[in-house]
Amino acid sequence: MKLFTSEDKLSRVVTDNYHLLPVINRFGIRLGFGDATIGEICAERDIHVPFFLVIINAFHHPDYFPKSEFLKFSPRLIVDYLRHTHQYYLSWVVPKMEKQLENLVESSQTNTEDLRLIILFFRKYKSELLYHIKDEEDSVFPYVLRITAAYEDGVPLSEEDWGKSIETYEKEHSDVDEKMTDLKNLVIKFLKADYNDNLCNDFLITLFRFERDLIDHSRIEDKILVPMITRIENILKNDQ
Ligand SMILES: [Fe+2]
Ligand SMILES: [Fe+2]
Repeated sequence: MKLFTSEDKLSRVVTDNYHLLPVINRFGIRLGFGDATIGEICAERDIHVPFFLVIINAFHHPDYFPKSEFLKFSPRLIVDYLRHTHQYYLSWVVPKMEKQLENLVESSQTNTEDLRLIILFFRKYKSELLYHIKDEEDSVFPYVLRITAAYEDGVPLSEEDWGKSIETYEKEHSDVDEKMTDLKNLVIKFLKADYNDNLCNDFLITLFRFERDLIDHSRIEDKILVPMITRIENILKNDQ
């Protein structure tokens, strides 16, 4: 497995795997980086190089997930990255999926049961996903940042926060992940209506890409953020 290093040109990262483009954008990096290396670009924008490298390498190699490396970073870096990812889902991916499904439905002359079922399923999936993201943005992440401020800066925790635990706070991801697989299968296995093949393929490709991005996102939350905060909770409780 060849990992990207700070000496690699960022243009090479993109040509090796263009799926990394939105991941790179989450750090505020946009195209037009010439021949600059990852190290140079990160230094220019004040981006934490080891964190950037772990994120792009973990996304690029699904089998590469250096838990101990990840656990060294501040939860603030992780939350910042996760929030940018949510923003990308809300402002771009979800509306795109919705528009592509709409185009697919419009391409069909017959309003058949299978199409209606896919629309219904998509709406249900979308509302669950939005609810999940809102819960993280409004409750989980602010709690993580308060715990981090208590640990890193000695900011006192409120009575209420002392009774909380990230383990119960962060909801299961399996539901959201499984529903995406079900939606894909519904389209692949059961779509029979007359429809435009290219529009359907566009929709399906967006679902596949989103599924991959979500798996990466959820594993950072479940395997890094939760254990990281559990460890800090235990340290704070022992110091009390
Ligand atoms: Fe999330
Ligand atoms: Fe999540």
